[in-house]
Amino acid sequence: MVRHFVDMETEERVRRDDRAHVFHSWSAQGKINPLPVAGAQGCEFWDYEGKRYLDFASQLVYTNLGHQHPKVVAAIKEQADRLCVIQPAFANDRTAELARLIAELAPGDLEMVFFTNGGAEANENAMRLARMYTGRHKILAAYRSYHGATHGAISLTGDPRRWASEPAVSGVVHFCGPYPYRSSFHAKDEAEVDHGERCAGP
Ligand SMILES: Cc1ncc(COP(=O)(O)O)c(C=O)c1O
Repeated sequence: MVRHFVDMETEERVRRDDRAHVFHSWSAQGKINPLPVAGAQGCEFWDYEGKRYLDFASQLVYTNLGHQHPKVVAAIKEQADRLCVIQPAFANDRTAELARLIAELAPGDLEMVFFTNGGAEANENAMRLARMYTGRHKILAAYRSYHGATHGAISLTGDPRRWASEPAVSGVVHFCGPYPYRSSFHAKDEAEVDHGERCAGP
């Protein structure tokens, strides 16, 4: 059973150090007041006052197994004990096994996995691989999108976070998603979406 304890001294210190030294992404720093989180378990996290929150968003849609799943925690500890880091030129049992498991789930003949440190880096490499492989330059990306904060990934991004980085990487063309819910063409159903797309042209 997890204990939710009150620790106002730590909360005060976290708030003070955070506001003095932590630059939070995509925020006007003077206008934010980040919630100090003391811990989490399953579908909940809690603050230093012991107030519990239901984490409907799985943080940023990445804790889908739940917070502090015992198998995940045990696997992280076991690996940290055994081998914390290995450079990319070497092979490793965990990397090889994970790549095989992903390839088994991936459709068609997708057999190779390229590991990166996060989403933006994955998209950067995807852009370069696709351009090298096809010999073509143009990349289509939806306006209703976020692809990461690095130079190429923010060029792909359709939402206003891209604006400050323009002119960014050349060759990216944005399109309105064929999306009946909150349609860019004010379409009420799929037939109207199709019509809107035809009018918008290729
Ligand atoms: C759809 C999507 N792509 C890319 C990214 C960028 O990932 P990262 O922050 O790991 O670089 C995010 C992050 O929120 C995302 O939601």
